[in-house]
Amino acid sequence: MTRDEQPVDEALLDRWRDWITPAFTRFGVTGFGADATGLSEQRLKALVTGDAILFTRAIECDGVPRGFVVVTLAAWESGVLRRPVAKLAWLGADDFETAKTLVTASLDAACERDVVLLSASPGNSPTFIHVALTEAGFHLGSQALTMRADLDLIAPELTRIPLRGSFREATPADTESVVELARHGFVDARFTGDPFFPAEWGQALFAEWARNLMRGAADSVIVAEVKGTVVGFVSMTLDARRRAEVPVLLAIDRRYNGWGIGAMLVRLMFEWYIARGLKVFSGGTEKSNTPINAVYTRLGATFSDANLVYHATPVRP
Ligand SMILES: CC(C)(COP(=O)(O)OP(=O)(O)OC[C@H]1O[C@@H](n2cnc3c(N)ncnc32)[C@H](O)[C@@H]1OP(=O)(O)O)[C@@H](O)C(=O)NCCC(=O)NCCS
Repeated sequence: MTRDEQPVDEALLDRWRDWITPAFTRFGVTGFGADATGLSEQRLKALVTGDAILFTRAIECDGVPRGFVVVTLAAWESGVLRRPVAKLAWLGADDFETAKTLVTASLDAACERDVVLLSASPGNSPTFIHVALTEAGFHLGSQALTMRADLDLIAPELTRIPLRGSFREATPADTESVVELARHGFVDARFTGDPFFPAEWGQALFAEWARNLMRGAADSVIVAEVKGTVVGFVSMTLDARRRAEVPVLLAIDRRYNGWGIGAMLVRLMFEWYIARGLKVFSGGTEKSNTPINAVYTRLGATFSDANLVYHATPVRP
């Protein structure tokens, strides 16, 4: 048996079309439900020919395709941390050994390029892909959930959340308060709960994320005040595509956790969307985030999708 390893280019994608078409369903779908997305041939070609490519490799045995991997740089995260952050944008393989070889080669390439965080989200991929990732050195980073709220259905429940206290639309003068709430609010989240990824880097990502929202990535930010101090915020973005690009955030000063402020901000957030005619809201959460998931489920929201996100830290500080 002859095994051939080569980079992935447009010509290879064309030559492998019969292998790739069913592989999109097997490896390229992010999850299930109405919020699942699938990788298309066009998107894969754009990735492979784009300038974010960090590494690609395809394996053939006796001229027959067995699998390939595409690793891309995550531009925004890399810019914030001023260190390379990357992700396995595509991983598909017919068997465990091929998958493990591809993941190991990706980690070696990431190490050579000083990548501090390499993520992978295998979506609907079969179990051996998950095992290949962990065997090669990835660990679980997060159990991501998609929360889905039918806004007509939860509207009566929202009114049961009493609105006490002071809430108002944020102004540019609130930017630093919101940024600091985001920096310190997320303790056990995906970027701040990984023992191999420095918490201050995770905090920097949340801080810059909030700054982006305040700079206009969100349509609106509502802040909660206690005695004139901003102690919590929530952001809203009506357009689902823009919301996918810069997801919305909600955070409370941890000294005020458990006061009910988070639940009140959730009420204001959903009411904001209802007032603008939205019928169904979808947004990300993590399974470990008990407080926010408690609020969502109590309101009658459901979880429409679930995905494991893996991390590897090729270069540790
Ligand atoms: C999620 C968050 C906004 C909740 O805000 P909060 O003001 O502390 O929460 P509330 O006081 O409104 O309580 C909300 C629910 O969480 C529960 N809760 C609060 N603290 C909890 C804790 N430490 N453990 C378990 N449950 C908790 C409450 O009992 C309540 O549940 P219930 O509605 O079933 O009674 C806050 O914890 C936070 O800022 N977390 C970090 C940022 C984050 O995760 N944001 C959400 C994703 S963007």
